[in-house]
Amino acid sequence: MMKRIRHYCSPSLIKLTAVLIILMLLGMTLTGCESRTNDPVEEVKIGVLTYDEYDTFINAMTKHMTKWCRQKEKEEDIRITIDIVGAKKSQLTQNDQARKFIAENYDVLCVNLVDRTDASGIIDKAIANDVPVIFFNREPVEEDLSRWDKLYYVGAIARQSGELQAKIITDALSDPERFAEIDVNNNGTIQYVMLEGEAGHQDSLVRTNVCTAALVDAGFSLEKLGDEYANWDRDQARAKMIELIDRYPFQIEMVIANNDDMALGALDVLQEQDYPLDPFVVGINGTEDALEAIRTMKLDGSVYNDAKGQGETIMEMAYDLGTGKDFPDTIEVIFDKYVFTPYSIITYDNVQQYITEES
Ligand code: GAL
Repeated sequence: MMKRIRHYCSPSLIKLTAVLIILMLLGMTLTGCESRTNDPVEEVKIGVLTYDEYDTFINAMTKHMTKWCRQKEKEEDIRITIDIVGAKKSQLTQNDQARKFIAENYDVLCVNLVDRTDASGIIDKAIANDVPVIFFNREPVEEDLSRWDKLYYVGAIARQSGELQAKIITDALSDPERFAEIDVNNNGTIQYVMLEGEAGHQDSLVRTNVCTAALVDAGFSLEKLGDEYANWDRDQARAKMIELIDRYPFQIEMVIANNDDMALGALDVLQEQDYPLDPFVVGINGTEDALEAIRTMKLDGSVYNDAKGQGETIMEMAYDLGTGKDFPDTIEVIFDKYVFTPYSIITYDNVQQYITEES
């Protein structure tokens, strides 16, 4: 018996057992490593940087971003930190904010540049630290965006907003009765003022040029009385409109604004001054206040700029980049970089649909 036991414990058996134990331990270690890499990500940290904290449209977009994250947290049992900071229109401040997010190990940055021609400070830091960046709304120049494959842009195609704004106007002017109402001095030409967003912004430049060119192409006779920058802002538009009315009393038949806040600023003044004419006023964005003004027939129309769609798309992409997933097929990424949401027309006839969607 003893002999047998000794036999079973022979040196070769001991060696075999040792090898087996080593293999088992190795196996356990390997499995352990594997499960660590497959561990679900517990937290995604997203830094959102906006050019300014007082922009109505951008704030609508960030509201939808936060909402998306809270919903995703519930669905996926994951912590999503979303930190939103405004740059007070200073690119240097924004560069510093980006640097801080990167130093605090944020996984992704979503950047609404202050100066769309000056993205290099943020891009350099992002590349050096391997932090992907989704730019939005203020489109960086192509040369910057093509520097790295983890740089993206989410926005809308400015040309389309100009075309649709022109369509709202041409639809109204094509109706002879409506034309006669708008052309108060009955000279066959529409006297108008243009309120522009911001010098150098793709949406200002393109919306202004495309809209006016389309009106001329449609065969309408137009006379531009004035053209002023009001930086997307309701109060600045009010100030500009007061000046324009002073310069052209009883002459303004139409106000074309690059966005809703400026259109609403113009309307404020027209109402306050009890302006004797009833100019045709159009904006762009479809903000809450604009939808209400269209519903109550104060604003003649707007072009829907999809704050919800853009905000949600940016978050989906940020989340996927942060968790190492591919973007879903529902997001069409052009040239592996660009995602655009479509614009659409809002007038009194369909405004209710937008009010319902927003609420
Ligand atoms: C435009 C929008 C404006 C303003 C601007 C800021 O797309 O229509 O209202 O928000 O972006 O960059």
